[in-house]
Parts: sequence; C-alpha cells; structure tokens
Amino acid sequence: MRCGRRRLRLAAMKLPCSFWFLLLFGAGGLVLFIHLQDLSEMVQQQVPGWGRPRQWGLSSAAACRMGRLSLHAGCHAAATLGKNHQDALYSQPRPPDPVQESRKDLMRHVCGRYRGRSARTITPQHVSRIYVEDRHKLLYCEVPKVGCSNWKRVLMVLQGLAPSTQEIQHDAVHYGNHLRRLDSFDHRGIAQRLETYTKVLFVREPLERLVSAFRDKFENPNTYYHPVFGRPIISRYRANASKEALKTGTGVTFKEFVQYLLDVHRPVGMDIHWEPVGRLCSPCLLDYDFIGKFETIEEDANFLLSRLGAPPNLTFPSFKDRNPNAERTSAHITQQYFTKLNASERQRAYDFYYMDYLMFNYSKPFKDLY
Ligand SMILES: *[C@@H]1O[C@H](CO)[C@@H](O)[C@H](O)[C@H]1NC(C)=O
Ligand SMILES: *[C@@H]1O[C@H](CO)[C@@H](O)[C@H](O)[C@H]1NC(C)=O
Ligand SMILES: *[C@@H]1O[C@H](CO)[C@@H](O)[C@H](O)[C@H]1NC(C)=O
Ligand SMILES: *[C@@H]1O[C@H](CO)[C@@H](O)[C@H](O)[C@H]1NC(C)=O
Repeated sequence: MRCGRRRLRLAAMKLPCSFWFLLLFGAGGLVLFIHLQDLSEMVQQQVPGWGRPRQWGLSSAAACRMGRLSLHAGCHAAATLGKNHQDALYSQPRPPDPVQESRKDLMRHVCGRYRGRSARTITPQHVSRIYVEDRHKLLYCEVPKVGCSNWKRVLMVLQGLAPSTQEIQHDAVHYGNHLRRLDSFDHRGIAQRLETYTKVLFVREPLERLVSAFRDKFENPNTYYHPVFGRPIISRYRANASKEALKTGTGVTFKEFVQYLLDVHRPVGMDIHWEPVGRLCSPCLLDYDFIGKFETIEEDANFLLSRLGAPPNLTFPSFKDRNPNAERTSAHITQQYFTKLNASERQRAYDFYYMDYLMFNYSKPFKDLY
C-alpha cells in the first residue's frame, strides 16, 4: 500500500520537471536521466528533523536541485504556476519546539556517553514494540503504563479504523489486532519508515511506572500474571507460603515483587510492563523525533497531533481502562509503596532504572539515594 503511495507522489512530482526537461532537451540537446531510486533517496535526505514535512514542496525542491543549473530556471517557472503551489514550494518546515529539542539533546547526550563503541545494526527485534500509522507517517513505540491504550485508540482513529476514540472498547484496543507493528514489514519497509516517519516515544517516572504495573497486575484478579509470575515469586520469596497462595499465585506483596525484579537469578523472566524503556524502545539506536511525558501526556500528545496534521476534533482521550475505580498511581502513592522496602532495596530499584532516569531527565525519587 505504502509503495503505491510513494510512486504516486513521485509521479505527480516528476510531471512539471519532466516538462521542463523536454523543453531544455529540445533547446540544448541535453540528455539527463533521473533514476527514480536516486530521486527517492534524495527526497528522504530532504526530510527535516521531525514533523510531517510538506511532501510536495520538499520533493519538488529536491527534484529541481537534482537537475542543477539547467533545471533551476524551469523549477522556478513551475513555482509561479499557482499560489498554492508556490506556497508549497517555498514553505519552511515548522520551527523546532524548544522543549522537544532539549529532551532530544539530553537523550542523545546520555546515549553518546554510555553507549558502547560498537555501532549496532537495527534488527526486527529492536522495532517489535513500534506501531505503524501510515497515513500520518507515525511510528509509536508502545510503553505499557504510559497511556498506551489511549495512544492505540488515537492510532486507530488516525488510521480510519474508528470515527472517534470514544467508540473503542479496551478489548478492541488490545486484542483487535488492528494496528500493524513495524517488525511485520520487510527490511526495506522497516528502513524506509524509520527514515521518513515521525518516531514517537512516551515515558514516565520509572518507579511510578513500576508501582503502576504492580498494582495493575498483582492487586487485581488476573488470569495470566498470578499463575505465571505470582506463583514462582511467592514460592521463592515467601517463607511459609500457604498452599492456597502457592496454588493461585495471588497476593504477591510489593516487597516480594521487587525482590524478584532485582534478583539476578529471577525464577521467571522479565515483562514489558516493568522492562526499562531503554530496552523496550531502543532510544539510543532509533533516535526518536518526539519524546512525550506521561506527566504532561495530554498537552504533549495534543501538540504532537496538531503537528502531524490530525483532524482538529481528535484530541488525546483520558480513559482509564484498568480498574477504573482505583486511584491513579501518583508520586504520593509511589512513595507509600517504597516505604515498604529497606534502603538498599530502594537504591537497587533506582539503579535498575538508572538509564531511564538519566535519559529522560527524572530526578532522584528518594532523598537517601546516591
Ligand atoms: C470528527 O470529525 C469527523 C468528520 O470530519 C467525524 O466523522 C467524527 O465522528 C468526529 N469525531 C468526533 C470525536 O467528534
Ligand atoms: C514458619 O513456620 C514455622 C512452623 O510453623 C514457624 O516456626 C516459623 O516461625 C514460621 N516462619 C515464618 C517466617 O513465619
Ligand atoms: C533489605 O531487604 C532484603 C530483602 O529483599 C534483605 O536481603 C536485605 O538484607 C535487607 N537490607 C537491609 C539493610 O536491611
Ligand atoms: C531537566 O529537568 C529540569 C526540571 O526538573 C529542568 O530544569 C532542566 O532544564 C532539564 N534538563 C534538560 C537537559 O532538559
């Protein structure tokens, strides 16, 4: 589908320039070839930092520049054909947003400081958490407990799968299989999207995200997390566990959960709900264009949507899917959970998410940390 779209654009773009080509060819006997492949590479290089570029204007400009001197005049002439056309040709990308620039600068700085020397290549595994929205050229890396259900609703509306976010039930969001992930495309499809789409990441205070995950998965009935994670956690970290607890895996305490998280010999593996963002979304490898924060999610998301050219009546929703009656996990609630741990456990939990703290500029959550 997207290849079809690209060809269409290239064809439309070639028209005015080819016209001038012919003219010049007749006049000067000049032979020039534009290989579509070269052109599309050129076009990609012209795409500015982030935000949806005005494809027509940039592509035309790129195509004209390719022709160097001879085509220069022709493209100028083409630009005067109509007001709208002219606007498109000379329009500038929107100015960068200072908040985004400082967030990205910090992320790149931290990545540069801590990344090993080896330049890794991108594999499908690195992009397996990323959802694709082709219409608005958006790549969204899903981080659980950071508003991802609402983000998926927005992606479904952008994609035309639903008229509004209100109509989308929780199960349709998560089990409907409506949205495509980036790793479902072939190598070329992945590379082209990574190069030209707006790559988006939303983050949250790491220990608050951890508490949110714990409350969601272990303090409420859950037919997956209790047997799969609860049982081995209780059996390993609870002395004298009751037969009932060992059988159901229900009733894991926060301290037991953190013991599991920090155990180098975990009895059961990690999970996306508490995996650090640095590992879920590979920010040092993929160089995201937009970093939103859960703490200001509606503001950040709506700003991004307007820049992407989303319909004006589409704003970021505030549904709370999970346990709608429970209070949202706040900084205050997070502190309460961490008082159940001792100082060394708090320190180690912070260390566990240290890269997320650095990259996304969250300050130390407890005074006694070093
Ligand atoms: C937004 O507008 C579109 C038509 O442009 C309409 O189909 C859709 O229902 C509207 N959504 C909301 C949430 O009002
Ligand atoms: C475990 O049970 C034994 C015997 O019932 C008891 O002596 C011991 O104190 C219990 N230990 C804990 C940590 O509750
Ligand atoms: C903190 O709790 C852990 C159990 O998770 C225990 O192994 C450790 O000895 C405790 N540390 C201190 C300083 O009490
Ligand atoms: C980090 O956040 C603080 C506020 O908590 C802000 O003053 C500072 O400018 C931010 N640093 C960077 C590099 O974004």
